[in-house]
Amino acid sequence: MKNFTDRVAAITGAGSGMGRSLAIQLAREGCHLALADRNAASLAETAQLAQAAAPQIVGAPLRITTRVLDVADRAAMFDWAAETAAQHQRVNLVFNNAGVALSSTIEGMDYADLEWIVGINFWGVVHGTKAFLPYLKASGAGHIVNTSSVFGLFSQPGMSGYNATKFAVRGLTEALRQELDLMKCGVSATCVHPGGIRTGIAQSSRISSNMVGFMLETEQQGKDDFEKFFITTADEAARVILDGVRKNKRRVLIGRDARAADWLARTLPAAYQALVVMQTRRMKRIAEKRARRAAQVDGRRA
Ligand SMILES: NC(=O)c1ccc[n+]([C@@H]2O[C@H](COP(=O)([O-])OP(=O)(O)OC[C@H]3O[C@@H](n4cnc5c(N)ncnc54)[C@H](O)[C@@H]3O)[C@@H](O)[C@H]2O)c1
Repeated sequence: MKNFTDRVAAITGAGSGMGRSLAIQLAREGCHLALADRNAASLAETAQLAQAAAPQIVGAPLRITTRVLDVADRAAMFDWAAETAAQHQRVNLVFNNAGVALSSTIEGMDYADLEWIVGINFWGVVHGTKAFLPYLKASGAGHIVNTSSVFGLFSQPGMSGYNATKFAVRGLTEALRQELDLMKCGVSATCVHPGGIRTGIAQSSRISSNMVGFMLETEQQGKDDFEKFFITTADEAARVILDGVRKNKRRVLIGRDARAADWLARTLPAAYQALVVMQTRRMKRIAEKRARRAAQVDGRRA
């Protein structure tokens, strides 16, 4: 798909981060939008920002619809896809972008937490793909963009739930792209692997208490340290994603960190794990030192 003018794009997780940036950049190019998020207030804000970014074409205002939903809810996703096709008369693009993060050991992981992240990060992508595919085919020019992660390329301790969902999205999307190529049905697919992107995901992530003392000093320190790896802006990430769709890329890596991780995982497909363990130990020692220093300062103040 070379340009997005007068196309219709559905975006999940549009209330924040990369979903919001995608909405604004697509609106700027004159692409009609169907936006979904579980957060009604931030979703409405994105719709306003996108409308304000839209080009002022007399007589043909940009159509932006919104739907509050949980992507893990299969019936709601199928209903939203039908509603979008009815409201916009067609659908050309779906960005299965909504996602959450979870930090926990496997040993201590609650099944409820694992089911929560699998429901959103994996099943949400499956539902978005299956619900919209018939409409994308009917449009004659469709594209599915599924967001995996750098953690769909390599694994890290404490991230098993997230890793499992993001590797699954990668597997699903790579197979999907091959099926669509065989079908020659006018629909394509791209798998997106962002590195660290400056968004709200760290602060809204679930950090299990079993991580404290194992890899982290406190839950908040875990969230704050996670954010230190966020080197790319959401706007830049959205720009790279849309460029990848224009070029019909099979996969899109975002940021030099994602490119380095990809290289490492392909060059040392097993040995990279030992390097990750070494680096994790080093970071734990640094966090412990920082916590000791903070405790000493507090002690002196008291
Ligand atoms: N930020 C990063 O560093 C990074 C790196 C790699 C991959 N990703 C992936 O990028 C995608 C976008 O994340 P982001 O960084 O922009 O995060 P974000 O937290 O800023 O935005 C995610 C949005 O998804 C929404 N959402 C969460 N659960 C939902 C649900 N069940 N149903 C509907 N909406 C839901 C949230 O309300 C939020 O608006 C996610 O899939 C994430 O896993 C992010």
